[in-house]
Amino acid sequence: MNMLVTGGCGFIGSNFIRYLFQDAPDFNGRIINIDSLTYAGNLENLTDIAETFPDRYIFVHADICDAEALAAVFSDHGIDTVCHFAAESHVDRSIVGPDAFIRTNIIGTFNLLEMARDKKLKRFHHISTDEVYGSLGPDGRFTEQTAYDPSSPYSASKAASDHLVRAYFRTYGLSVTLSNCSNNYGPYQFPEKLIPLMILNARSGKALPVYGDGKNIRDWLYVKDHCRAIWEIIKHGALGETYNVGGDHEMENIRLVEMICDLMDDMAPLPGRSPHRGLISFVKDRPGHDRRYAIDAGKIRDELGWTPETTLENGIRATIQWYLDHSEWIERVQSGAYREWIQQHYQ
Ligand code: NAD
Ligand code: DAU
Repeated sequence: MNMLVTGGCGFIGSNFIRYLFQDAPDFNGRIINIDSLTYAGNLENLTDIAETFPDRYIFVHADICDAEALAAVFSDHGIDTVCHFAAESHVDRSIVGPDAFIRTNIIGTFNLLEMARDKKLKRFHHISTDEVYGSLGPDGRFTEQTAYDPSSPYSASKAASDHLVRAYFRTYGLSVTLSNCSNNYGPYQFPEKLIPLMILNARSGKALPVYGDGKNIRDWLYVKDHCRAIWEIIKHGALGETYNVGGDHEMENIRLVEMICDLMDDMAPLPGRSPHRGLISFVKDRPGHDRRYAIDAGKIRDELGWTPETTLENGIRATIQWYLDHSEWIERVQSGAYREWIQQHYQ
């Protein structure tokens, strides 16, 4: 297998490549990772993999919106499989500046599909999100049949890319599969997202900004469980099908932040042992903030035998430990641009 992974230097993409090389004994192919290294992409996430597997891991610095660069990658490396992660992924940034989301998530996906369509690929797997389904009330969960109803420029751009992928299956017979997953967390997540932001702020005794009343609900999925699901879908998923992937761990944001605080009291106490919960600060709500997401992952369980294995408490504990152990990584990703975003957004 010569697998093109797009966005492999980001959070989930780098965890997926690591998963294939370290935890998937039935993977014996090559990975060609193409990434334009935006603020969210970090080559260092895979330094050890690049050193250990020099013949099986290749990095190409390129933008998925650059059709010529994509054509060269396809012909130079005999790509037969695509796993497409590359995207602008942060909802708050999409509200401030939607342009990059339209460009990468829609035009970039279109470019890849065009490149793939006459190549007789074995598989084009597209990574999507539960956010395309919109917001739930107190009951029910998203199934693969739930109608799309995106709320943010981010989720609207992901919805557009999903439609394009399905259209290329129906119109051109491209061998596609899709997965729509819930909120991931774990090592290497850029600290603009809720969980790493809270861990890092708590570690430094800074305010923990919770949007609105804190009662929005997300369904948390440990990233390694997600990577295992993606690999199962690539190997055994039915062509043209969509699989919802969720952690079966719904929680209100405020409860999750309190859980992180309590674990931090134990794992990284503040001076004088003052409780981290004292740092919680309610701030202005996100515009168009979806109230609740919850995934019904019955299809992937019944058809492919996948279920999440990591409990929320174990996953959060492991994630906190990872951030406590990787202060150099943290310092390097907290560049000037990162500090500017935090200052501008939370002022
Ligand atoms: P991320 O922001 O951490 O990483 C995105 C990666 O894509 C980065 O390495 C970035 O450099 C790269 N990239 C961006 N634009 C590019 C371009 N034009 N060309 C090439 N590379 C480009 O994102 P993530 O959290 O790892 O998400 C990966 C995928 O999973 C996305 O498609 C996202 O929509 C989806 N998703 C994420 C979550 C989550 O909780 N993080 C949940 C559901 C779905
Ligand atoms: O549901 C899947 C989606 O999960 C992915 O498609 C996105 O790429 C990913 O970024 C994530 O989107 P969210 O908007 O749910 O994640 P985020 O970590 O930004 O926020 C999680 C919840 O926490 C959300 O209800 C907003 C809230 N929040 C977030 C931040 C950054 C806060 O209360 N305070 C914060 O500072």
